[in-house]
Amino acid sequence: MGRWSVVAVVVAFVSLSWLYGCVSTRLPAVSLEVAGEAAAPGVLAPFGADPAITTADDWSARRAPLLREAFQANIYGRFPEPAAVTVESRQTLAPGDLEGVAVIEQWRLTAGPSAFSMLLITPAHAQGPVPVIVMQNFCGNALVYPDVSGVDGPRHGLPAECSNSWMQPIVPLIFGDAIMTPPTEMILNAGYALAMVYAGDVVPDQAEAAAPFLEALTPPGAPPEQRTGAIAAWAWTYLRALDALAEDPRLRPDRVVLWGHSRNGKAALLAAAMDERPAAVIALQAGTAGASLGRDAIGESIAQITGTYPHWFAPAYAAFAGREAELPVDQHQLIALIAPRAVLIAGARRDQWSDPIGAVRAAQGASPVYELFGASPFVQEDLRQGVYERPLATYLRNGLHGVHSLDWREAIAFLDAQAR
Ligand code: GCU
Repeated sequence: MGRWSVVAVVVAFVSLSWLYGCVSTRLPAVSLEVAGEAAAPGVLAPFGADPAITTADDWSARRAPLLREAFQANIYGRFPEPAAVTVESRQTLAPGDLEGVAVIEQWRLTAGPSAFSMLLITPAHAQGPVPVIVMQNFCGNALVYPDVSGVDGPRHGLPAECSNSWMQPIVPLIFGDAIMTPPTEMILNAGYALAMVYAGDVVPDQAEAAAPFLEALTPPGAPPEQRTGAIAAWAWTYLRALDALAEDPRLRPDRVVLWGHSRNGKAALLAAAMDERPAAVIALQAGTAGASLGRDAIGESIAQITGTYPHWFAPAYAAFAGREAELPVDQHQLIALIAPRAVLIAGARRDQWSDPIGAVRAAQGASPVYELFGASPFVQEDLRQGVYERPLATYLRNGLHGVHSLDWREAIAFLDAQAR
């Protein structure tokens, strides 16, 4: 590189850091007070013809199936039917920089009409089976570990924001050092394995390209307005990964964690609400139709989310644009479907788009179901500080939408505390 190119790169870097600093301090930060009405409908209150819930058995037998039905009909579309997973191949890859720390395998999987690749990254020196964190990423497994050769690229192309190679060095400056690649060594050294799936192989994250994949996954006979949405398909993908991992003796089947940021956080929460196997969910800035309340229309609205991402949801959801308060269900009920399992909800103070306070209110709204199961309720005095001895916890960090190593340290602290 010539001297002027070096100068240009340094100038670009400094300007971007400055720009980031300006953006992140000028965007208003949410207050550290929880304001607003309690989540509605009350999680144990009568729901349609279903009377109030007073026992955990009634919740599981009566209320939970009704809520799963309502979330599919009104927001996510029909959940794809379970399909047997076949491990078509398993290949060990040279771990590159993670030599001596990790064993990396690539599994090629098929399930029903879908085919996708998964990286399974286990600690090289584990003493017995370890918990596994199953995560989805935005831009395909190959971009997560560019130094590992042989990682499968995306099967159906990438969203534009991932395929612009000049964007790649800039993305971590804006969205955090761990937006593309998790701090893998730290996670493995903490005693966890990682399984990485690119759900864009199952349904591409682009409205037109997604259409035939969504059609193939929609259960036969579903009404058109309840056509499977991509969030449901990606949630189903998490569960198919779990099916494949279930028999691996290096992993603990009772400690499978789903991790997702933003759109992947929406999918992780839905997956755990639909299936009892995940022991924990870590959902970062999952926002509208994720961890934050939606009926009060704070943060990203239904018109905005369905305008930009119509493929994410059932067509029925778009009909609630501007009529948010008429939604028959809200996100505290989705979180409650995961009770009494461990859920950590993370927010960023200058990410008002994802309504971080709405996520704390959703946790408050879900809490009575944890208590019904005999678990300790959600309580948090300082929103910045998660109370990780409790199964439902939140924290609010400074900064913008994105993933930092700090977020992973919080997740590990929470999972460690929950393992006791
Ligand atoms: C957009 C979208 C959000 C989503 C986010 C993400 O901002 O509006 O709903 O959570 O992308 O996935 O990063």
